[in-house]
Amino acid sequence: MPLRVLITGASSGLGRELARQLGQEGCRLALTGRRAEKLAQAADGARCAGAEVLELLGDTTKREDVQRHYARIKAAWDGLDWAILNAGVGDSESARSFTAKNVRWTFETNVFGAAEWIEAVLPDMLAAKSGTIAGVSSIAGFRGLPGAASYSASKAALTTLLEGIRVELRGSGVRIVTVCPGFVKSEMTARNDPRQMPFLLETEDGVRRMLSGIRKGRSLVHFPWPLSTPMVYLMPNLPNAIYDRVFSKFKKRKKPYVDESKSQG
Ligand SMILES: NC(=O)c1ccc[n+]([C@@H]2O[C@H](COP(=O)([O-])OP(=O)(O)OC[C@H]3O[C@@H](n4cnc5c(N)ncnc54)[C@H](OP(=O)(O)O)[C@@H]3O)[C@@H](O)[C@H]2O)c1
Repeated sequence: MPLRVLITGASSGLGRELARQLGQEGCRLALTGRRAEKLAQAADGARCAGAEVLELLGDTTKREDVQRHYARIKAAWDGLDWAILNAGVGDSESARSFTAKNVRWTFETNVFGAAEWIEAVLPDMLAAKSGTIAGVSSIAGFRGLPGAASYSASKAALTTLLEGIRVELRGSGVRIVTVCPGFVKSEMTARNDPRQMPFLLETEDGVRRMLSGIRKGRSLVHFPWPLSTPMVYLMPNLPNAIYDRVFSKFKKRKKPYVDESKSQG
């Protein structure tokens, strides 16, 4: 039986490449995103690669979209083997022009959108005593990053949310995986200053590492190690005096996020 996989945020970046690579393996793929044209292109690419595809246009922050999408998945395939909760946003922000609105917007997708999907898929996985939920968090969630405080906070929240669930579900047959990439080429990182993205990976390479970590049964998948190992294991314990001095050199993104879904439908 082909693996039944949900990929949220499949219209660009890591999600689109996940669809391509899993498509080559002949998986059944449920792909979500808000931009119709880009989602259709990703779906066509996955179909050409060999996948059976459900194209699910909608917004992960909208409960009714998530419930409608999961109902379609259940009707078509009777459930999921993997749910890769990848949809995410992040924007440049300066602490000097801080807005609660930006924090709320970031959490809506990165935390609450993922939570909507966990609520939708978990009961059937628990009943089946099998399934994998892989949440795409970030190494940015291990310390607060200047110029990206809301993003860091949202990823910290996602990482600990997944961890709490993972520990409680130990032995249930359902695996919870937290994926923490470093820098990988995508629409999101294309807005960054390349000089501030050490060990930047090609999208294909980043996604291969993601899939390899998920398959190996790791609960925390992080890469590339020269960047991620210090961020995950060293930085959280680094005294503020040192952390602040080193990281105050990092600046915010060069280009702001533009929500193309508002113009594209
Ligand atoms: N690239 C990196 O270096 C890196 C590093 C660490 C973590 N990550 C994480 O990896 C994930 C993928 O990001 P990316 O780098 O591939 O960026 P990207 O190219 O901007 O992709 C983000 C995807 O999320 C979707 N999305 C955003 N808001 C959504 C919403 N409300 N509902 C449904 N889909 C939504 C976007 O599609 P639509 O706009 O069509 O909805 C798009 O397909 C994110 O969670 C990001 O935080 C990336």
